[in-house]
Amino acid sequence: MALKIIVGGDNAGYGHKEELKALFEADDRVESVVDVGVGSADDGTYYPNVAVAAAEKIAAGEADRALLICGTGLGVAIAANKVSGVRAVTAHDLYSVQRSVLSNNAQVLCMGQRVIGLESAKELVKVWLDLEFDPESSSAAKVDAICAYDGSLDQA
Ligand code: RB5
Repeated sequence: MALKIIVGGDNAGYGHKEELKALFEADDRVESVVDVGVGSADDGTYYPNVAVAAAEKIAAGEADRALLICGTGLGVAIAANKVSGVRAVTAHDLYSVQRSVLSNNAQVLCMGQRVIGLESAKELVKVWLDLEFDPESSSAAKVDAICAYDGSLDQA
């Protein structure tokens, strides 16, 4: 099933965000791409505002996944995780990206433009598109335990 994806980030992640958005738009595994900003490298909107806007769309079921880019990938993950039902991770290596979905059922992947080169980021997000959480796996009860803390268990 093709994915509905949200992309977003602050000015420190703008270049990677635009390039990865273009990659998604050209990929058959992606049904739609919604960009929640920022709209330019000069836009000073704070990263939490963008991250929460994306996370709220995930929580509302408007999209399947979000890719958030800031300078480090840290702040956007912290902010997105404040939204009930959202599991956001920062990952810059293959194994972590894989496990973020397979073990943690994370809907939101965060990266730092100041941390990872564009070509490496592209390879990771291509892998990310194929990953699917197995609700019958032994990880499911652990994810449920996370959801129990934020009242989102019924949404998981
Ligand atoms: C720049 O504001 C930088 O702090 C931000 O992009 C991000 O790295 C925060 O976690």
